[in-house]
Amino acid sequence: TPVAAVIPAAGRGVRLGPGAPKALRALSGTPMLIHAVRALAASRHVSLVIVVAPSEGAAEVKSLLDAHALPERTDFLVVPGGETRQESVRLGLDALPPEYGVVLVHDAARPLVPVDTVDAVIEAVREGAPAVVPALPLADTVKEVEPATVAGTPEPVVATPERARLRAVQTPQGFDRATLVRAHETVTDDVTDDASMVEQLGLRVVTVPGHEEAFKVTRPLDLVLAEAVLARRRL
Ligand code: C5P
Repeated sequence: TPVAAVIPAAGRGVRLGPGAPKALRALSGTPMLIHAVRALAASRHVSLVIVVAPSEGAAEVKSLLDAHALPERTDFLVVPGGETRQESVRLGLDALPPEYGVVLVHDAARPLVPVDTVDAVIEAVREGAPAVVPALPLADTVKEVEPATVAGTPEPVVATPERARLRAVQTPQGFDRATLVRAHETVTDDVTDDASMVEQLGLRVVTVPGHEEAFKVTRPLDLVLAEAVLARRRL
């Protein structure tokens, strides 16, 4: 069954500081979104990439895709995004042609994910998992707190989950198409990833090994790291 990727790229990227929408900011001269599209299209299993663009910026994103060399065997679609990441993903799913049975959802903010990670996610879905997430162990110990009402004031610690049982999850997350569509129709709570919606349906979500280069570009320091990774790849 053919595989499509939905790339939500409609966020403003406030935490990165002032400037263009995050996905359109340059990494070594090329917009982050183009890196992300190439990373997914690098998999020979992915035959369609749907980019969910900032709602005002769909035409600009379309011309960006036309201006950059992308694999011939991959089709590209651009649709306008929504107010939340969840809504943007749903708008991407609405544009998905019927023949695609496997869907990846990948943040434009993870431009450097290696193709081996993409392929590992696809393989696990094809082997029957309804939902698959790339995951890494944590370096930091994590605390649950009572969030402060005033930013910057001390927060009481509530609990310390056992670190060895925790994983940081990345994208692309991979899904059986019908499962993801049902999750988006059923779950209305705010979520920060797609797999958690499938968990709420009571279905099995599994992990495959993630990769440190699949980190999310969120804050200014992440741009420094991303540039360094690209420089190392060029050596
Ligand atoms: O805000 P966060 O870092 O979780 O965003 C993850 C991804 O979701 C980014 O690629 C961002 O562009 C996308 N997004 C979106 N539509 C929104 C908000 C975020 O497509 N309304």
